[in-house]
Amino acid sequence: MHSSFRAVNCAAWGMPDQLTVANIAVREPMAGEVRIRVLAAGVNFPDALMVQGKYQLKPPFPFTPGAEIAGDVISVGAGVTKFKAGERVAAFCGIGGFAEEVVVPQTGVMPLPADADPKIAAIFMLAYGTSWHAVRDRAALTAGETMLVLGAAGGVGLAAVEIGKALGARVIAAASSAEKLAVCKLHGADDLINYETEDLREALKRLTEGRGPDVIFDPVGGRFAEPAFRSIAWRGRYMVIGFAAGPIPALPWNLPLLKGASIMGVFWGEFAKREPKANFAGMAEMTEWIREGKIRPLISRTYSLDEAPQALDDLLERRATGKLVIVP
Ligand SMILES: NC(=O)c1ccc[n+]([C@@H]2O[C@H](COP(=O)([O-])OP(=O)(O)OC[C@H]3O[C@@H](n4cnc5c(N)ncnc54)[C@H](OP(=O)(O)O)[C@@H]3O)[C@@H](O)[C@H]2O)c1
Repeated sequence: MHSSFRAVNCAAWGMPDQLTVANIAVREPMAGEVRIRVLAAGVNFPDALMVQGKYQLKPPFPFTPGAEIAGDVISVGAGVTKFKAGERVAAFCGIGGFAEEVVVPQTGVMPLPADADPKIAAIFMLAYGTSWHAVRDRAALTAGETMLVLGAAGGVGLAAVEIGKALGARVIAAASSAEKLAVCKLHGADDLINYETEDLREALKRLTEGRGPDVIFDPVGGRFAEPAFRSIAWRGRYMVIGFAAGPIPALPWNLPLLKGASIMGVFWGEFAKREPKANFAGMAEMTEWIREGKIRPLISRTYSLDEAPQALDDLLERRATGKLVIVP
């Protein structure tokens, strides 16, 4: 048995290039915990915010970033009966995922079939979980409605495009380049807007004959939020997902009044903790959609543990499409 394992180490707030890989002492699981050999770890924008001290969760130093993983159970703590050594699982760990192994409370662990692809399982929970919670659960998007997705080629964005199509809605994808929009098209988007070269409001007016989108999925914030909201349809639902562009937008309160529209906050981590049954129902529905070929998660690049800073930098510099994954 080895006594240590390799893990990405964050010893101070800073840009991803300050991260190192360190040897960490193995810890046996305590009561209710599961120790997992990490086969793949999903890379998410919140990881990149967390190492800079810009995320709502600020773990004490040193810590290992990485919120979601898939792998095989090594051992379990007292009282754990649902999992045993050798079984394949996915887990939401919050931190600690960019490592060869991680210990997670059993409540964050999900069983997988023995032959499940660990890379797909590792990128699925956070992005698809967030987008399902937003689009299906909060916005209750229905067939025949129209949804605008901002940052549509990104992790949660592309998941929202696919979920919108699986629900039978019309999806308008907005992103910053022709290459990113081509990815959105490939994943089912009906209409495309390049918000760097086109006027967002004009394009939405043209595409919806002046009606506006029923649902707006916004993981970007910044300068697009207000023009997008001004374009929303009567009784529209605006999903506040995140602020990848940096600034947190402010909105005049007369705008929701005039459209009879709602602004809905989406916080998947808290949803998964408070409403685990609803979250698992979403995972089950999407697993079925994968089986039926209705959604096809895109992993555009795989990195080693040593390349974790590069992976986070690719997100921060808008070079990523779909999901990025670390294979320790
Ligand atoms: N609320 C929740 O529960 C929850 C859960 C997961 C993630 N999030 C949030 O959702 C956002 C997206 O996360 P993600 O993992 O999908 O990230 P991602 O894959 O990097 O996607 C973000 C997209 O935002 C766009 N963007 C615009 N300005 C940007 C900038 N200055 N820097 C980086 N990206 C910029 C990019 O698209 P273009 O280049 O096409 O503009 C990019 O594709 C983040 O703010 C994250 O914190 C929230």
